[in-house]
Formats: sequence, structure tokens, C-alpha cells
Amino acid sequence: MSDRIRIVRSNDSHIDGIYEIEKSVFAVPWSKKALYEDIVENILSYYVTALSEKEKRVVGYGGMWLVQDEAHVTNIAVDKAFQGKGVGSAILEALIRKCEISGIRYMTLEVRESNYVAQRLYQKFGFKAEGIRKGYYSDNKKDAIIMWKYL
Ligand SMILES: CC(C)(COP(=O)(O)OP(=O)(O)OC[C@H]1O[C@@H](n2cnc3c(N)ncnc32)[C@H](O)[C@@H]1OP(=O)(O)O)[C@@H](O)C(=O)NCCC(=O)NCCS
Repeated sequence: MSDRIRIVRSNDSHIDGIYEIEKSVFAVPWSKKALYEDIVENILSYYVTALSEKEKRVVGYGGMWLVQDEAHVTNIAVDKAFQGKGVGSAILEALIRKCEISGIRYMTLEVRESNYVAQRLYQKFGFKAEGIRKGYYSDNKKDAIIMWKYL
């Protein structure tokens, strides 16, 4: 059976699956509590979850804070077994669509200088590198590239 990935608004039933991915892909993962607070309780946030219909589980997620006419993308991550299959693109498309219908004019995010795959994903959707945040990452003090997209 071929798989179908559904992108839905994140809710508290997704937190355990999101946390498993968070731990497996990020050097400094958010705690489950921090994820819950941002995804479920933060009224400024908007998160989506990618669900595999075949495996009936969370295979990716992404989110952002919407503040006035600006969106700050906090996180996008895809389960390692599902990377390179278009899931990250579908998540980012859903976030961009939400921005478009919400009257957001700018989207921004930070990405590790060494994370070429994520940079290519963002470039594909019109994000451009416009600055550097020195020593942004707490694990190795490496710089972040700041990217912006104008809607
Ligand atoms: C970055 C990430 C979210 C991308 O998700 P994904 O589902 O693998 O991405 P997609 O399959 O939709 O691919 C999107 C684009 O990324 C690039 N890309 C994907 N896999 C790649 C690879 N192995 N090598 C180079 N570029 C790659 C391509 O440009 C691709 O677009 P294309 O297929 O049209 O050429 C995913 O790799 C991930 O979870 N990484 C770990 C967490 C992370 O780094 N998050 C970003 C923090 S800023």
C-alpha cells in the first residue's frame, strides 16, 4: 500500500511523536514540556503535523510564531526514515499558506551554517540569506544564517 501524508494542525495528541523526532534530529532538543507549551498553549504559535496514514504516526512537524505582520519559523523536522520524500516541503508549504491567508508580510528563520539540506528547502520556497547571528547555537557556538521571505 502506498503511503499518504496528511498535514494537519498540531494538537496535544501529537506531542509524544513530535518529541521523538525532536530528540532524534536536533543536537539540543526542546523538552516535551517546552514543546507542549509552545504548540498547545502559546496563542501566538501555529504548528502543523505530518501524519503517515500507513504507519498511523507523526512523521514530521513545523511551526512558527505569528507576531503582527511577521512570522518566525521555530522548527521544522522530519523523521529520518521519511526525509527526502517531500514531507518537509509539504510542511513548509502549509506554513506559508497560513501566512498568506493571515496577512503576514515577512517570514524569517535561523538555520545552521552547516545545514545545507534545510537551507536548500528554504531557498526552494523563496527564503534568502540576509544576515548572520554570531554564536547562536548553544551546543557548539556556531553561527546561524538568518533567512527572510517576503510574501
Ligand atoms: C530539513 C528537513 C526538514 C527537510 O525535510 P525533507 O522532508 O527531507 O525535505 P524534502 O524531501 O521536502 O526536500 C526539500 C528540499 O530539500 C533539499 N534536499 C532534501 N534532501 C536533500 C539531500 N539529501 N541533499 C541535498 N538536498 C536535499 C532539496 O532541495 C529538496 O527539494 P527538491 O527535492 O525539490 O530538490 C529534514 O531534512 C530534517 O528534518 N532535517 C533535520 C532537522 C533540521 O535540520 N531542521 C531544520 C532546522 S533549521
